Amino acid sequence: MRRNLVAGNWKMHGGLVANQRLLADVVLGAATLGRIELAVFVPFPYLAQTQSLLSPTAIAWGAQNLSEHAKGAFTGEVSAAMLGDFACRYVLVGHSERRSLFGDTDAKVVAKVEAALAHGLRPVLCVGETLAEREAGSTMEVVGAQLAAVLDRVGVAAFAQVVLAYEPVWAIGTGRTASAEQAQEVHAGLRQQLAVLDADVAAGVRIVYGGSVKPDNAAELFAKPDIDGGLIGGAALVAEDFLKICRAAGE
Ligand code: PGA
Repeated sequence: MRRNLVAGNWKMHGGLVANQRLLADVVLGAATLGRIELAVFVPFPYLAQTQSLLSPTAIAWGAQNLSEHAKGAFTGEVSAAMLGDFACRYVLVGHSERRSLFGDTDAKVVAKVEAALAHGLRPVLCVGETLAEREAGSTMEVVGAQLAAVLDRVGVAAFAQVVLAYEPVWAIGTGRTASAEQAQEVHAGLRQQLAVLDADVAAGVRIVYGGSVKPDNAAELFAKPDIDGGLIGGAALVAEDFLKICRAAGE
C-alpha cells in the first residue's frame, strides 16, 4: 500500500517570523494525522530554519529547485550536495513555473533528477499540460513525453526513489482544479507507462496531484485509486487549510 504524501510548495513566500508560526501550527496539527507523510518545500534561505524546527518531527522538507551541476562557477545556483547539508529528503524538479519562467527544458529536468538521485535526494518530478494542450486532446502525449524524457535516461528502477506530481498548468494558482476524474485518468496513464517497464515500481510509485487543491476539493481527489496525495501551493501557506487537506489524505 502506498502511503499518501501531502507536500506544501511555498513558492517565493515566507519570512522568518511567518515560517516559525506556520511550521509550529503544522507540527501541532500533524500530531493527530495518522499514516500520511507530510513535507514542505521552502525557499533556500529558510532550509536551516525549517531543518531546526522540523528535525524533531516526522515532517520532511525540501527545496523547490536545484542545480544540475555539482559545483563550480554557477552564480546563484544551489547544488544537490548543499541541499543534503540541510537534510532535505525531497526536492521539486520541473515545476511548471521553472519550466515556463526559468528555462527548465526536459533535458535540464533530466539532469536535475540525476543530480538529486546521485546525492540521495528524492526528486518530486512535476509534469503537466497547458490549457491549449488539454483542449487539443494531447494531455497524455505531453505528460507522457515529460515522463519519458526522465525515464529513458535514469531507468525505471530509479523511480523507486521518485515521486511524480501531476500538475496541469491551467490549474496552478488559478482556482481551477482538474476534476477528480480528469486527474485520475492522467495518474492512471502515468502509472501504466511505468507498469509496462516494471509492474512493482509502478505499483509503488506515488503520484500526487497539484493545482488549486483546497480543503473543499481534496477529499474527492484523494479518494481516487491512483492519486496518492497532493502538492499544495496557496493553501499550504495557511496552516488550517493545509492541515484540512492533510486530514483528507489520511481518511
Ligand atoms: P496551487 O499551486 O495549489 O496554488 O495551485 C500548486 C503548485 O504549483 O504546486
